[in-house]
Amino acid sequence: MATPNISSDLFQNQPSRSIDQEDICITCEDFSLSYGTKQALFDINLKIPTNRATAFIGPSGCGKSTLLRCMNRMNDLIDGINISGQMKLHGQDINTRDVNVTELRQQVGMVFQKPNPFPKTIFENVAYGLRLQGITNRTEIEDRVEWSLVNSALWGEVGDRLQDNAFSLSGGQQQRLVIARAIAVRPQVLLLDEPASALDPISTLKIEELIAELKSQYTVVIVTHNMQQAARVSDYTAFLYLGKLIEFGPTNVLFTAPGERQTEDYITGRYG
Ligand SMILES: Nc1ncnc2c1ncn2[C@@H]1O[C@H](COP(=O)(O)OP(=O)(O)O)[C@@H](O)[C@H]1O
Ligand SMILES: [Mg+2]
Repeated sequence: MATPNISSDLFQNQPSRSIDQEDICITCEDFSLSYGTKQALFDINLKIPTNRATAFIGPSGCGKSTLLRCMNRMNDLIDGINISGQMKLHGQDINTRDVNVTELRQQVGMVFQKPNPFPKTIFENVAYGLRLQGITNRTEIEDRVEWSLVNSALWGEVGDRLQDNAFSLSGGQQQRLVIARAIAVRPQVLLLDEPASALDPISTLKIEELIAELKSQYTVVIVTHNMQQAARVSDYTAFLYLGKLIEFGPTNVLFTAPGERQTEDYITGRYG
């Protein structure tokens, strides 16, 4: 095959395990989705391992964001959607009637491409979800806010200005604040949809380092159109094309010895 554009020293994460040896967090079973008459996902079968970083790669419009959004039912907000098959969190179908979507989204947090802090102080941004959970104890809230900002690698930069408005932060800081807000409620899963694509290279590096830290405590699923980024941050990679899951496996295997011709064409830059 043609040599992929990815140098082998990029792979910091070389899982010795195959997916069969991993504890599975999210399972897609014959999962399909249509927007009205337009089908966007076709019979996806995928197992996302617990406390690992899994990347979704593929050309624009292939369904990466759609699949990610199904993992905490963000697509519920869009009219005319039809799904079939199952999406399970620890073996439980998340689309059944008895699932409380608010609770699901506390378990499965999401961060978008563009940082979206609330027009509130830095402190209140992080405390927001805690207050929603009904926590009123001041000390507990302060402790959790500090813990979240430490764990989102932002405390050193904002610890002495928690009462400043979140919009006074740089874009990269705002994105780490949004991650702090997401982890404050202690989710099991963090869904990240191109979290660094609106950021400068230094902020991007910080977000990538943060992902490497977070995955020891959270199951991380990250959409990226940047293959180098997928190679740097993820343990497993899923390649999607035209709404289908073409290949899924350990990141280093997928990038160095893909099993499918379409994966090889994509990672060698033949289409994009
Ligand atoms: N809200 C929507 N309504 C209708 N079609 C949509 C909507 N969101 C995405 N799509 C379509 O679904 C397909 C997959 O989109 P998306 O999941 O955003 O892809 P990606 O994130 O890989 O770029 C595309 O053809 C896109 O046009
Ligand atoms: Mg997208």
